[in-house]
Amino acid sequence: MSYDIVVVGSLVVDLPVYLSHSPHLGETIVAKDSHVFPGGKGLNQAVQAFKLGSRVFFVGPIGPDPLGEFMQHALDDIGLKDRILLMTDAITSYAVPVITPDSHYIIHVPGANQRITTEDLLTFQNSWPQSRILLLQGELTEAANMTAIALMRHMNPLILLDPSPVEHISDALIQSSHILTPNQEELSQLALRYGWTSQNPLWISQQLLARFSNLHAVVATQGHEGIVLVTRDKTYHIPALPVEEKDPTAAGDAFNGACAYALSQGDSLYNACVFANTVGAYAASHLGAVTSLPSWNDLKTFFSQGN
Ligand code: RIB
Repeated sequence: MSYDIVVVGSLVVDLPVYLSHSPHLGETIVAKDSHVFPGGKGLNQAVQAFKLGSRVFFVGPIGPDPLGEFMQHALDDIGLKDRILLMTDAITSYAVPVITPDSHYIIHVPGANQRITTEDLLTFQNSWPQSRILLLQGELTEAANMTAIALMRHMNPLILLDPSPVEHISDALIQSSHILTPNQEELSQLALRYGWTSQNPLWISQQLLARFSNLHAVVATQGHEGIVLVTRDKTYHIPALPVEEKDPTAAGDAFNGACAYALSQGDSLYNACVFANTVGAYAASHLGAVTSLPSWNDLKTFFSQGN
């Protein structure tokens, strides 16, 4: 079978809590709101591309528990073509995105995503789909990411790597990738890893391109500061859109999924980033992970209403 995009990535049940303020030490704080949403960087990116019209093949792991069942039902509802791997010795991964008026962070419990092995993926190597684009992130094991690359090597796919979390991203994985999409924090963590003291996204991106010869571009997503796209011969700044931010969870994933969609349609990387910037802005102005990802109709309605 042939697909536009293959995503090998995480499945995470998100339990976001929305708070009136960041809690003080020792404070018990009552949440303003909370939900149970399907999420995970892998799933979010796959769903975003799928909702825009890409033929997406998704591979991700769950555990044998109620959260895994929740995730399986969510995937059935979405209608994404998937290959879910059941890790019998791990819980389904979950995360607690914490959203306050002036901060956003995610507490991530790795579970099944950090249990997946080379052997698990090789179980269906004979039915591995054809594709020219592969999307990877840092929530699965290094072995899973490197196996996905090895299984697709003969197809020579364009590999987009979201280096998040950075601690699971090896130099070998970056060197095997073509487009790296760090956010501000991930760019700083990479700089720290290589002993660079500068916080300048352009400078760090240029150093990454110099260090990793296989990379075509670094796309630094800078939140309110927009996007810095650095290729081997050009630099672009794409300003952020002035939307009202409600929950930035999955905005970066919306960006990655939309960028992959646009590239699969033949867009240039610059045009793909401009489009993906719009899609990421939509996601940041809606609650949740998968629930915040727009279709074409959602985008048209939202941006025709003056947003
Ligand atoms: O990028 C956002 C995702 O990262 C969330 O859906 C959460 O699951 C975390 O892993």
